[in-house]
Amino acid sequence: MIFTVAIDGPAAAGKGTISRAVAAHFGFAHLDTGLLYRAVGAKGGDPVMAARALTEADLAREGLRTLEAGQAASRVAVIPEVRAALLDFQRRFARRAGGAVLDGRDIGTVICPEAEVKLYVTASAEVRAHRRWLEVGGDEARVLAEVKERDARDMGRADAPLKAASDAMVIDTSEMAADEAVATALAVVAARLGR
Ligand code: CDP
Repeated sequence: MIFTVAIDGPAAAGKGTISRAVAAHFGFAHLDTGLLYRAVGAKGGDPVMAARALTEADLAREGLRTLEAGQAASRVAVIPEVRAALLDFQRRFARRAGGAVLDGRDIGTVICPEAEVKLYVTASAEVRAHRRWLEVGGDEARVLAEVKERDARDMGRADAPLKAASDAMVIDTSEMAADEAVATALAVVAARLGR
C-alpha cells in the first residue's frame, strides 16, 4: 500500500508529536524532514555540497535540536540547490510501500502534492515558543524571537515557502492538549483509510 501523510506547519507547532503518533498507530515509516536541513546547517562548509553528501551519520549527530541548529537550518533551507539535493530522497520515502508520514514545511505543497492526507499544524507564536522553551530552557523571550524570525524566513522565501496546501486540513493546537491534537490527526487518517 502506498499512503502518504504530509504534516506541515511552523516551528514548534507539535508536528513531531503528531507525526510520531500517527506513524506508530498505523505502522507507517516516519521522516522528520527538518532533521535533514538541521544536519546540512550543522555540517558547515558549502551547504550545497553538504546536502549532496548527507549521510545517516550526519542525521545522528548531537546538537541538532538546539535553537542555533534551527536557525542554521532555516538559513540553508532558502537555497534552492540545497532543497533540490534533498528532494528525491524525500519523494522516495513518501511513496515507499507500507505508508509514510513526513513532517516539515513543504511536504503537502512540493514534496508530495499527491499525499493521501495533508495536515497543517499550527498554533500562536507565543504558545509555540512556550512549548519550545519547555524543551530547550533559557530565556523565553529569546525563544519567542527565534521562533518568529524562523517563521518569517520560512514563509518569506521564494523556493517552497511554508504555507498550507489548498487541500490541507488545518489543526490549530493553540488551545489543544497534545493528546487531543493526536486524536484529531488519527481520526482524519483513519477516515481516509476507510477504517
Ligand atoms: O522542529 P521545528 O519545527 O522547530 O523545526 P524543523 O522541522 O526541525 O525545521 C528546521 C528548519 O528546517 C525550518 O525552520 C525550515 O527552515 C527548514 N525546513 C524546510 O525548509 N523544509 C522542510 N520540509 C523541513 C524543514
